[in-house]
Amino acid sequence: MEKQDRSTFTGTLGFVLAAAGSAVGLGNIWRFPYLAAKDGGGLFLVIYLVLALTFGFTLLITEVAIGRKTKQSPLTAYGKIKKKWRGLGIIACLVPVLILPYYCVIGGWVVQYFGLYLTNPQFREGTDVYFSNFISSSVNPILTMLLFLLVTAYLVYRGVDKGIEKTSRILMPLLFIFILIIAGYSLFLSYTDDSGVTRTGLQGFLIYLIPNFQGITVGRFFEILVDAMGQLFFSLSVAMGIMITYGSYMKEDSNLNKSINQIEIFDTLIAFLAGVMIIPAVYVFSGYEGLESSGPGLIFIALPQIFVHMGFFGSVLGFLFFATVLFAALTSSISIMEAIVSSFMDEFHLNRNRAVITVTVITIIMATIVCMGYNILNFELTLPNGTTGQILDLMDYISNSVLMPLVAILTCILIGWLAKPDYVISEVEKDSVVMGRKTLYKIMIKYVAPVLLIILFLKAFGLFG
Ligand code: PHE
Repeated sequence: MEKQDRSTFTGTLGFVLAAAGSAVGLGNIWRFPYLAAKDGGGLFLVIYLVLALTFGFTLLITEVAIGRKTKQSPLTAYGKIKKKWRGLGIIACLVPVLILPYYCVIGGWVVQYFGLYLTNPQFREGTDVYFSNFISSSVNPILTMLLFLLVTAYLVYRGVDKGIEKTSRILMPLLFIFILIIAGYSLFLSYTDDSGVTRTGLQGFLIYLIPNFQGITVGRFFEILVDAMGQLFFSLSVAMGIMITYGSYMKEDSNLNKSINQIEIFDTLIAFLAGVMIIPAVYVFSGYEGLESSGPGLIFIALPQIFVHMGFFGSVLGFLFFATVLFAALTSSISIMEAIVSSFMDEFHLNRNRAVITVTVITIIMATIVCMGYNILNFELTLPNGTTGQILDLMDYISNSVLMPLVAILTCILIGWLAKPDYVISEVEKDSVVMGRKTLYKIMIKYVAPVLLIILFLKAFGLFG
């Protein structure tokens, strides 16, 4: 009964684009380029690529296979594999519940800047003052969050094929084209600063690409490895039920092995291109020091400052850039909401309509509290990993640094040791396709991935720098 009723993507391409839409998000744009610049350029790129093909591949294929095999959302899927492991479903479902509110708050910030470049191309206040005034104001951030959240909710309400898949089919190709345009422009920049030094985009590109072994020790190498792993893990949207959910909407006859490779290639390519778009531009206008910012500081403060330097083209690029970020954020937020909505539908037998309304109401309340974290509820909290932050950072820390590695470790134990890797392999090979990297998969899921994940988990508590 359940099996027949479940919605599906129209085909393999629809699934790949939707999953890639989830994977390509703020992480690709505001964190990957910064990590690459900080962690030895090409050296980071190579380490990241190797990890993507081994560690990332293992986690991603496991989740998609669990989804397609159980035809369940995260909340109920784990219990279907082993009854006693139902609890893991609850934690896996809690992660998107925690992430969605703050993701929508940041989505609202993106909406604000998108609107700004759209309506006021002469926008010249690309300073930290504008940004901090905006996020700490009492009404506007709530309104933009609401707008972003309601659009997300509407698209999720439209359903798997007409909402999620269709949005991804339109936005992902556009995002790709926009990134190519901006990256191309960035490579040909050149600027002479007040002290008479000229820097070019090509020089910046080489800094990004050429491996820098300066000061590399074993400890430093380990640090880069952990950075790359954390980034990859977040970037593939694993360990929060999304890929299980999307896998459950996959048609039986789609080629799972090939789709996973395509998602990985797309996600990594976009992250790489985001670096080509950002690193040369930042280097040209702000030199080495400019490369030190990431996260909100990079896209809401540093880049707008650079667009100012570019004159007329800056306005056009600013608009294209925030459209790109908006598309990336929207296809990711849809996936986060869908993981919760489908869990509520499977567990409480709600229809889509009711599940969407319930999730939206809960998210509005939580997201409003996150917004207030920058004004009336402002506090400075020191987290166990040594960083400080507000409510948004606290929620990000609990979900990303603590719960996600935990979910992934437990998933590896469940599949690697209890259900056995054949659980996944047989699902991948169902249509007489031979699973590539099979031996590698077995070793990864049983031994290597859990160890790497435990390191990542311990990092949340301040170990390993
Ligand atoms: N994978 C997305 C990125 O790279 C972020 C994301 C995380 C999306 C969690 C959904 C869920 O930015």
